[in-house]
Amino acid sequence: MKKRKKKIISPHILLAVTALVLALTILSRSLPDGTRRLNVGASGIGEKAIALTFDDGPSGKTEKLLDGLNEYGAKATFFVIGKNVEKYPVIVRRAYDEGHLIGNHTYDHPRLTLLSPEKAKENIQKSSEIITDVTGTKPYFVRAPYGDITAYQLKYMDAFFVSWSVNGYDWDEESEDKIYNRIMKKAKDGAIILLHDTNECTVNAVLRAIPELQAQGYEFVRVDDLLTRNGNKLAMGIPYRWCEYDNRPVAF
Ligand code: NI
Repeated sequence: MKKRKKKIISPHILLAVTALVLALTILSRSLPDGTRRLNVGASGIGEKAIALTFDDGPSGKTEKLLDGLNEYGAKATFFVIGKNVEKYPVIVRRAYDEGHLIGNHTYDHPRLTLLSPEKAKENIQKSSEIITDVTGTKPYFVRAPYGDITAYQLKYMDAFFVSWSVNGYDWDEESEDKIYNRIMKKAKDGAIILLHDTNECTVNAVLRAIPELQAQGYEFVRVDDLLTRNGNKLAMGIPYRWCEYDNRPVAF
């Protein structure tokens, strides 16, 4: 029987390995937020995809929208307000369970540019915790109210910011037809459409537009899937929209 020679690791190698691990740890901690990347790499998204995004909810109008999205097999993104999530947790849970993306739109919709970076972060954090309690998932996708946030504030945020490429101008629009026509006119591959599930006219207009656009070959996808299709990577702390001209997510 062969006697196994006991291997002893040289103290020099041990020291070198320890130093390397330490250096890598320090290096990874010092990486700025912007270098943390997301690569969901959504597959199966076709050539004509649109992300419908609904801000300021949930509201008493959201369930009708969810029913319609279900009927048409469409996915959407809901940038919810924390205090409304407190009011309608069951609706948010339902939207999450039905495969929609739940994004964060702050706790009570302040204009973030008027707040200090700490206060802005606190407001988003508060909403994030409420959403996480309801869905069990931290909402990494954030939309700033009015699209307003400073570059300095963004540096402090542990989130992917999403802007829009088409404004539905719908939040106080009382004409369903106007909203419907705007969606139909502006629909194109890569469009991120800003809408509000607080307005019944919006819900009705969207539910008219979806089957029409599906008949034209469009599919409706979550904004995280749209932005990361074809393996595109996103960095934290940068607001994104889809670039209409070179077919990729671009920072503002
Ligand atoms: Ni809003």
